[in-house]
Amino acid sequence: MTQKDFIPNLEPKNISPGEVSWQSPSNIALVKYWGKKENQIPANPSISFTLDNCKSTTTLKFSKKDEITGTAEFDFDFYFEGKQKEDFKPKITKFFQRIEQYCPYLKDFSFEIHSENSFPHSSGIASSASGMSAIALCLMDMERKLYPEFSDEYFTKKASFLARLGSGSASRSIDGGLVVWGEHKDIEGSSDEYAVAYPYKVHEIFRNYKDTILLVDKGEKQVSSTVGHDLMHGHPFAENRFRQANDNLKALIPVLESGDTTEFIKIVESEALTLHAMMMSSQPYFILMKPNTLQILNKIWEYRDKTGIPVCFTLDAGANVHVLYPENHETKILEFINNELVVYCQNGHYICDHVGDGAKKLYF
Ligand code: PMV
Repeated sequence: MTQKDFIPNLEPKNISPGEVSWQSPSNIALVKYWGKKENQIPANPSISFTLDNCKSTTTLKFSKKDEITGTAEFDFDFYFEGKQKEDFKPKITKFFQRIEQYCPYLKDFSFEIHSENSFPHSSGIASSASGMSAIALCLMDMERKLYPEFSDEYFTKKASFLARLGSGSASRSIDGGLVVWGEHKDIEGSSDEYAVAYPYKVHEIFRNYKDTILLVDKGEKQVSSTVGHDLMHGHPFAENRFRQANDNLKALIPVLESGDTTEFIKIVESEALTLHAMMMSSQPYFILMKPNTLQILNKIWEYRDKTGIPVCFTLDAGANVHVLYPENHETKILEFINNELVVYCQNGHYICDHVGDGAKKLYF
């Protein structure tokens, strides 16, 4: 499917006021998306684990505007955790502007959007992936009422497509398990426009992989994703980095099939450090890791050497550490985290998560 396929060409049905609710998870990239072209097209393909516990729950209430008194503007109120939030509105207005040509009905409706996250707002966990994908899913659910003919495949792809226009990584929060976004010549069906469920064989070990997120720094992000992606324009290592991401994704295919955790770790940790290396070597440059981040990484390496347990880390564009490990080592790793890593977490906080099934519609 191409972006043209996402422009409705039928007359919308008349629908009564209503509401739809979706729960959408966060995701953690194994091969990172860092750098984009025009219109949120990624500079390289990425792959992520969909999470389960870290999620946004969003309700979209809609009613058709009065044809006489209604304005030709986007009309919506946004509530976060029950409170009306004016400061979130510009981001959603921008999102609506970006998707308007694919959702031409937007200005015909008044909306109320209610959203909440399962994780604390100030946890340093980006909520844009779960939040934007949840709104995209709610819009698609409403769109299904306007144009009842479309297929489930269209629903999922367009939801991911719209989510991508809100926040690139949000495109990977619709499906469960492993999800790929960005065209890769060895991954059938992969696309720059939307994410797809990883289409090849995945070893049992990666089906319920654990991700314990150590909250090292719960502050606001020092570098927003927008600024971050921009740093890759004119970056001296950009082209090599984009090539490396393609190579790493290719190298992951046999690893995901065989369950080779040694190779998995090499790729995933290198991706995390490369993401940070890109930030350290851009102009202006940033160090987003904190001293405690490094303490944790060293402890993980030490523990892995000592025990042979295939535990590794990955990082987002921040100081928090995602500790990744197979389910059967959970007891041991949680013991290790409690004994040796919790001291490096802000107020001793961490979040236990694992690979999840993807977004879900809620019925009340
Ligand atoms: O979706 P954005 O624009 O917030 O970018 C996310 C970038 C990383 O989280 C650092 C990497 C990724 O692939 O998720």
